[in-house]
Amino acid sequence: MRDFVFVLWMSCALLFGLTARAAFAEYDARIGEMEILTPAPAPAPRINGPKIYGARPARIFIYRIPCQGERPIKFAVDGLPPGLELDSQQGIIRGETPDKPGEFDTLIKARNRHGQCERSFRIVIGDKIALTPPTGWNSWGGHMVDVSDRIMRTAADVFVKRGLADVGFQYIGIDDCWMRLTQDMHATRGAATVKKHAAYDYHSTGTIGPIRDQYGNILPNGKFPDMRAMTDYIHSFGLKAGIYSGPGKRTCQSWAASGGHQMADAEQYAAWGFDLLKYDLCSGGREKNRMLKTIPGFTPKDFWKPMSDYLRMQNRDILFNLCQYGRHDPWSWAPSFGIQSWRIGGDLNHNVNHYFEQALRIAGPLRKYSRPGHWNDPDFLYIHRIKDVKRMGEPSEEIPLDTNQRYQYVTLWSIVCAPFFFSCDIENIDDFTVALLANAEVLNINQDELGYVAEVIRDDADETVMFKKLAGHAMVLAVFNRNSAQERSIEVGWDEIGTCCNHALYDVWRQKEMGEYKGGISVKLSPNGVGLFILDRGF
Ligand code: GLA
Repeated sequence: MRDFVFVLWMSCALLFGLTARAAFAEYDARIGEMEILTPAPAPAPRINGPKIYGARPARIFIYRIPCQGERPIKFAVDGLPPGLELDSQQGIIRGETPDKPGEFDTLIKARNRHGQCERSFRIVIGDKIALTPPTGWNSWGGHMVDVSDRIMRTAADVFVKRGLADVGFQYIGIDDCWMRLTQDMHATRGAATVKKHAAYDYHSTGTIGPIRDQYGNILPNGKFPDMRAMTDYIHSFGLKAGIYSGPGKRTCQSWAASGGHQMADAEQYAAWGFDLLKYDLCSGGREKNRMLKTIPGFTPKDFWKPMSDYLRMQNRDILFNLCQYGRHDPWSWAPSFGIQSWRIGGDLNHNVNHYFEQALRIAGPLRKYSRPGHWNDPDFLYIHRIKDVKRMGEPSEEIPLDTNQRYQYVTLWSIVCAPFFFSCDIENIDDFTVALLANAEVLNINQDELGYVAEVIRDDADETVMFKKLAGHAMVLAVFNRNSAQERSIEVGWDEIGTCCNHALYDVWRQKEMGEYKGGISVKLSPNGVGLFILDRGF
């Protein structure tokens, strides 16, 4: 009898559960092959980007106000700190920050012949920078050893002409291979790159030669004839420039790094006008291990601290992106001496299909380490065309991800507060990829001032559901179909995200109000599909 009652109870519960779930209204979020979801920007101005921005005292300051809409746009900013000035035609704030800590609640206004808008922007002068995840593009994925001054300038042009700067992309970063090699380095470990790119001409590119001048200053190769002129060009748009090196003698491609010259190199990066350093372990691993073994009390963090200190001594803010592939748990010590972001694992370009796994690490075990000023870095959004590291001489190729997976990848980077850097062949970026990256609503979620990393509320073989709180009362809901062969309708009850009743929903990718959903939602998704929603956006 007890068994019978149990079976009856289970059947009722199951039936009730099914009917209750089926009661949720369905929303069709399926995405077609190469379908562009991001609507074209409206002609009236719309200011995007972070609402909070950190800068150190008495430093050179540069910030381009991300703003969509037909140009010319006239900008105004109320409440700027002393020392900062607005270029009202271009919407660029420049100058030198006040020499004391303080908070400045500014109001940015933008107007054109179609309308006007405003957005709050708090400038926090203090020791913390990167209060929201850094955003930008890096040369590695698309260009590798073929990076040059021309490519960097092209990236700046693409940012401005194709609307990426208008949604908040800020940094344009050179990765490896801007330096030189001595004849000896070339003949020995420099040969590593030779094998990967037989056609690369070390001589006519000015790559072989002294790696430092008579004063010990690092020298770029001939593809970077004037670093300062290049960063001036990037800064002329209000964008920022990034550079790359490592604490060992050689970079990962065995080119000259900063080992033994860290202070001089930090000064050089600042003099050249760089605003970010990606600092990569590479050959430094041997040195670090030797120090760990021979210096009593030496810890992995002591190996990275000098460069962090030297960067902080410069006259401009230079973000520190630490690249040690997640070894020695950098998340547990890097924030303590002011590192803004650290890689949590190996290179994603060889393993781009591992994007979900990396994002889930940030949303799971590493979640507590990401916070304003300090971010877990799962590596770049390797999107569209990238090179194969083993065949660098060959043209870039499409990444092996389908349309829906690309939407998943960008969605995940947004909601786990990853540094929002993409890396691809910038000369051949297509309209689909620009639209995929330049969705202002997706970026604004990544840039939300709360810095709340999405939490996983359900994760099984076929479906993953995550939510993220935004500043104010709104919440983000992301629903993923993990099944690569079948469409699915995924149900989410509001009780699962700690709420109830009715919520007004907004489709983030399509930038569309969806109306009220009672009790929950059933989201219809393509294979590998994703739906990204904001609950009560207008609150
Ligand atoms: C390492 C890094 C990559 C890239 C290359 C450059 O592999 O992890 O991101 O910077 O070096 O050589």
